[in-house]
Amino acid sequence: MRRIIAGNWKMNPTTAENAVNLAKGVDERLEGINDLEKIIFPPFVYIPLIMENVRSVEIGAQNVFYELSGAYTGEVSPSMLLDLGVKWVIIGHSERRNILHEDDESIIRKVKSSLEVGLKVILCVGEKLHERELFRHKEVVKRQLDGIPDDENLVIAYEPVWAIGTGRNARVEQIEEMHEMIKSITGKKVLYGGSVKPENASELASAKNVDGFLVGGASLEADSFHKIALALRNQYLTSSK
Ligand code: PGA
Repeated sequence: MRRIIAGNWKMNPTTAENAVNLAKGVDERLEGINDLEKIIFPPFVYIPLIMENVRSVEIGAQNVFYELSGAYTGEVSPSMLLDLGVKWVIIGHSERRNILHEDDESIIRKVKSSLEVGLKVILCVGEKLHERELFRHKEVVKRQLDGIPDDENLVIAYEPVWAIGTGRNARVEQIEEMHEMIKSITGKKVLYGGSVKPENASELASAKNVDGFLVGGASLEADSFHKIALALRNQYLTSSK
């Protein structure tokens, strides 16, 4: 089973030129790594241009709507992404849940409709800090997983909200506890996300049931994303010896 290295660029970089340069830098560095699935998630507007400039990485979108066409101003449909050659989509990222107020119901609709057209989906789940402090982390994540379809193209990313963009990654034992639960409920690959950096990637990759990383901030530099990919690959090679 190939592990996944995914780079979520969020709303960065801010020019097409910088986006293409970053994509090319990542593509060149990751070209020799064949035993990982490698995906970058640029903002929608840069996707077509980036596709013309990369060979070794797949391209995904950071969001999608659940309807396929119609009067939904500002939205992009799963079939439009597929038509463009996009293979993957991230759904339910905590920034969309919390800043854009997406609820569990619309997230599950997005997951279903994307899988139905043939996209691969990374569904993000994870608890907020106060939910963990109240020992409600398992209950919250179980609720977020409620109603997900059983589909081979579905991957789950466990991203505790308190670890995203904070420099404070979850500890190995916390990751193992949550990944084990998610795996037992879904049977899917489970990625970890939340302040993954070159400095902590080997340790985090050694946690049980970590099938890859969803990287935010550190995916905006080709060198650091490359180092994380190498740590993931090397850890995997060591553990499968
Ligand atoms: P981070 O973001 O690596 O910057 O913490 C991860 C994510 O939001 O997917």
